[in-house]
Amino acid sequence: MPAKVIIGAQWGDEGKAKIIDIMSEAADVVVRAQGGNNAGHTVAVNGEVYKFHLVPSGILYPGTLCIVGNGVVIDPEGILGEIDMLHQKGISTENLKIDVRAHLVMPYHKELDGLKEVYRGASDIGTTKKGIGPCYMDKAERSGIRFCDLSRPELFAQKVRENVKIKNEIIQKIYHGDKVFDAEEIIETYLGYANRLKSFLTDTTVLTYEAIKSGKNVVFEGAQGTLLDLDLGTYPYVTSSHPVTGGVCIGSGIGPTMIDECIGVMKGYVTRVGKGPFPTELFDKVGDQIRDVGHEYGTTTGRPRRCGWFDAVIGKFAVRTSGLAAIALNKIDVMAHIPVIKICTAYQLGDQVITEFPPSLEDLELCQPIYEEMEGWGEISHITQYEEFPQAVKNYIKRVEELCGATVTMIGVGPNREQNIYRFPVQ
Ligand code: GDP
Ligand code: IMO
Ligand code: MG
Repeated sequence: MPAKVIIGAQWGDEGKAKIIDIMSEAADVVVRAQGGNNAGHTVAVNGEVYKFHLVPSGILYPGTLCIVGNGVVIDPEGILGEIDMLHQKGISTENLKIDVRAHLVMPYHKELDGLKEVYRGASDIGTTKKGIGPCYMDKAERSGIRFCDLSRPELFAQKVRENVKIKNEIIQKIYHGDKVFDAEEIIETYLGYANRLKSFLTDTTVLTYEAIKSGKNVVFEGAQGTLLDLDLGTYPYVTSSHPVTGGVCIGSGIGPTMIDECIGVMKGYVTRVGKGPFPTELFDKVGDQIRDVGHEYGTTTGRPRRCGWFDAVIGKFAVRTSGLAAIALNKIDVMAHIPVIKICTAYQLGDQVITEFPPSLEDLELCQPIYEEMEGWGEISHITQYEEFPQAVKNYIKRVEELCGATVTMIGVGPNREQNIYRFPVQ
């Protein structure tokens, strides 16, 4: 398995971390390339549940090199918290590496994230308030601060002073906020973080390139999901990075020719946290059942996730925009005991039936899902072989494949490592 990219093919929380953890057993390197600690990645192993936000989910395997790439925005306090949590559980972080180009999430980014949400009022995005948008804004505006700046304390201090001056003005004069940031305090705190993080810092683009060149198994761990992509998602109800497979190249510093396989992770249904249109959203008892049985509450914010039927228009869009050959279909155990399962095959938009995901949010809001009904199934969480699935599950998988245009290679029947069923022999 040389270089594989694993991305979320819906609105995030598809169970990417479980798949990454499983694939990490055979991986030499696991790389995160975008997002920040807005991500919440859950891995369940031997009764222990780990929640990762920045540290790649491969860290539980002692021999796996775990890279946080240049495209990730990093809250140093957040990553240090994760490192401490891992040490408390007896897990080594010796193999963790952070790219020196990665941008720092600063305290004012978090403040501005919250203030902007309030300012937006009813049209708020429902962000995680982790400062992700404001940090990527500074990066694009070319006023961001990077890890490499920390190795030159005077330069770092100057950048913080310049930023704090302008951010304080924005907070007070635009948002009428009362928070005043003290540049000197931030400089001291962040130089302290730098001291604790310096052994992890390096040019990871070299490590990733050399690993792939020498034939090592490299897995790229996506965060968020296709419809949260800044360019291709349901803009403006998106995140500020590129969760599609294309984002991996920029965020880890490798070329597209170095990627061998792209796998999309989907759930047997769809969820969304935060605001924005969601054509197949359920507001009835079935939606509540999925949320309860699937524990659909945000890993990062604890917010209830909105739940809905599987949407093949989205699935097809993800396959197309990320060049997915394979689908890992998670959480179909959660759908047990629903007598009739619906699957959205197209949208009705005015007098048109469409199967391509609409670029305009206004059109998407008008789309009515067109459903096909399928027979449901009973308990399946104990199943260990594809052949043991009831025919109804096999039919469902086949229909997902036909509608999305990629092969379902893995099926999730529970949160644990071993509750992943390979459809074909593992290569
Ligand atoms: P990620 O952000 O894509 O890594 O997903 P999250 O960790 O935010 O959310 C997925 C949740 O579903 C986690 O609590 C996982 O432990 C759980 N999970 C993953 N796969 C399965 C599955 O096949 N069945 C069930 N029941 N739970 C799963
Ligand atoms: P993982 O990696 C689900 C959503 C937020 C909000 C929007 C913008 O666990 O799948 P942001 O804080 O990024 O500016 O918020 O994006 N969001 C996620 N939803 N899973 C995630 O990550 C998400 N990361 C951000 O809820 O709607
Ligand atoms: Mg998540």
